[in-house]
Amino acid sequence: MYVRPAAAAAAAFLGLTLTALSGTAQAAAADPGAPGAPGLPGPVVYAHRGASAYAPENTLASIDLAMRLGFDWVENDVQRTKDGELVVIHDDTLARTTDVEQAFPDRKPWRVKDFTAAEIATLDAGSWFDASFAGARVPTLREYLDRVQRNRQRLLLEIKKPELYPGIEEQTLHVLDEEGWLDRDHVRRRLVVQSFSTDSVRTVHGLRPDLVTAFLGTPAVADLPKYAAFTDRINPWHTTISADWVSAVHGLRGAHGRAMEVDTWIVDDAVTARKVQGMGVDGIITNAPDVVQRAVIGIGLGLGAFAR
Ligand code: G3P
Ligand code: CA
Repeated sequence: MYVRPAAAAAAAFLGLTLTALSGTAQAAAADPGAPGAPGLPGPVVYAHRGASAYAPENTLASIDLAMRLGFDWVENDVQRTKDGELVVIHDDTLARTTDVEQAFPDRKPWRVKDFTAAEIATLDAGSWFDASFAGARVPTLREYLDRVQRNRQRLLLEIKKPELYPGIEEQTLHVLDEEGWLDRDHVRRRLVVQSFSTDSVRTVHGLRPDLVTAFLGTPAVADLPKYAAFTDRINPWHTTISADWVSAVHGLRGAHGRAMEVDTWIVDDAVTARKVQGMGVDGIITNAPDVVQRAVIGIGLGLGAFAR
């Protein structure tokens, strides 16, 4: 069974603000040999699509806000345009999170893969969320990586719907490499690649065996050893797990010989955060990282009564 690193002088953190607790301090205290391992008690908190409860998902504004809230781990979704540019967007159509229906009314169903990068760059990806974010754009992966790097953040990169984009794994790794994200520091401490597709995760592991990867889903316990052959983490929807299942994952050694980990999604309230923390998850992926961090840090420091 994997034992998480103990928090060093946890009490010393008590006087710090949530911002310092959740982000900068985590980064500073992380074990460089174990990506994602925190130096604080409680699960690592990942800002899902950025701080997407408060800013338009997968935009640069969403990761900037995560940074300002003190969170260094951000999650995103990567897809590909008609002319082969990798872009950061969750849905395989542009309709929900941009003004594409107004800008290109005759291009229904507005699939990402049917638009060029130049066309997508003209879209407003912020107004749908709030008028104050008007003018936010769908970032290219390169633009996104540059901003994460500038913010000194870390990235949980999801290859989204890889079945729509043949070769996207190799292309994503190529962009990561060109942007300086496959050096030793990033590979060990700053990058995890995940997908709902077993084929995609297996492909990434085959191309870059040194990278930490995660499979999104909840395999049956009996099937977990098959996943352990090519990935390090199993990242399930929080409603699908139990303490026994988490324990079964922890009991296996993953592709890099370390105990497998569990980062669960999408948990946006304190009660559920404390529930999955009680199951022993290693990370929580959330749209509201401040809410979750506040909930889990209290339990981690033995302050459950004060964490409400
Ligand atoms: O990181 C986990 C989560 O992003 C998976 O679901 O649909 O939000 O990409 P989805
Ligand atoms: Ca995602």
